[in-house]
Amino acid sequence: MPTTAILGLQWGDEGKGKLVDSLCADMDLCVRFQGGGNAGHTVYPEGKKIVLHHLPTGVLHKGCVNLMAQGMVIDPARLLDEIAEVEARGYPLKGRLQISDRAAVTTPMHLSLDGLREAGADKVGTTKRGIGPTYADRYDRIGVRVADLLDAKALRDALSRAIAVRACQMGDSAPTVDSMLKPLLEQGRKLAPYVADTALILAEGIQEGRRVLFEGAQGAMLDVIQGTYPFVTSSHTLAGGIPAGCGLYLTVDDIIGVTKAYCTRVGEGPFPTELLDKSGEELRQKGGEFGATTGRPRRCGWIDLFALRYICRISGVTRLAITKLDVLSGFGDLKVGVGYEGWNEPGLPADIARFSALKPVYKTLPGWKDNISQVRAAGELPKTARAYLRFVEEFVGVPIGIISVGPEREAAFFTSGAPRG
Ligand code: IMP
Repeated sequence: MPTTAILGLQWGDEGKGKLVDSLCADMDLCVRFQGGGNAGHTVYPEGKKIVLHHLPTGVLHKGCVNLMAQGMVIDPARLLDEIAEVEARGYPLKGRLQISDRAAVTTPMHLSLDGLREAGADKVGTTKRGIGPTYADRYDRIGVRVADLLDAKALRDALSRAIAVRACQMGDSAPTVDSMLKPLLEQGRKLAPYVADTALILAEGIQEGRRVLFEGAQGAMLDVIQGTYPFVTSSHTLAGGIPAGCGLYLTVDDIIGVTKAYCTRVGEGPFPTELLDKSGEELRQKGGEFGATTGRPRRCGWIDLFALRYICRISGVTRLAITKLDVLSGFGDLKVGVGYEGWNEPGLPADIARFSALKPVYKTLPGWKDNISQVRAAGELPKTARAYLRFVEEFVGVPIGIISVGPEREAAFFTSGAPRG
């Protein structure tokens, strides 16, 4: 299939990085279309851990060209650090990384604004990477864009425009244009060889039949419109965000939706199936559930199949990838969320107060004791694990295409549907 997407179906951290890493071996182009340094995609090339924040995971595959499309926000200082780290690990990026000239730029002002907002009563629990303020400035038409980094006058104008509007929110902490100008220009000089019109590169790639992978960051429930608003990120994380984020009308042939076999969330906001007892702590410890970007402990709970079914429907998911199935080994009976008490709608509430009040209705399924981390085919899984997967597939109504039982590349294997019998 020429175009594929990998998208998170929960609140991020579903294990997308590893799957993208496996699939990139057969891809010509890997494209990030939303988000920025708030992502933390952990991969283990040659057994050694690396966490990518801005860079598409395809940078770890020498045959893959990587696009950072215009829907992204870019913190140039952090991106340069990441480029240096990836190159030092033996993956040269010249000619393999293209950054959109229209992508939004996070400046020190945006980082301060994120920090100020998070210090207040209405905090969202952001990653403090300046994501919200950078997107807000784009839509307020006072944003800084990558193209501005390449031209001193354009950059001065853009920074002056932004500061003029935002200074009143910042008081004494507002940075001056001059304090930001020089370092940003220097970063622009270093990034210049990578800057391009990525929409055009993608259009040509698709026309020539190249294999393209769209790498989602965060997850569906963090989508700025469809997620648990206002406890969301500031970008479009659903498949509908791909065309606008790339600046190109396109369709995606295969949309792989990734979900953990349970569920996690970082930051504030509702999480109906959250476990606040010792089972939640056990999931956190066994699953190593600590944020890849911020190190924060993740909130843990049972998988919410009702929410998954809705998200798959609106995001056009064609296959499910179930990750971290091994973490459920030894848990005894397992619960899966199949609805909410008193909620008879097919979708999820738009109103956050109603969402926060949802109490899950569970179906209990038998667990398994065996260590499954060495399993490499769906048919080798214990009978109860197979039944668990079948229940997920039938409830959500989307076939399972990938199962993952450990952090290594080989621990994720393909299947055509949940194993029978
Ligand atoms: P922001 O994207 O930093 O503005 O944070 C907004 C919300 O999205 C917060 O709850 C963050 O914890 C969450 N978030 C942002 N990026 C990720 C991610 O990559 N994984 C999980 N949660 C994320």
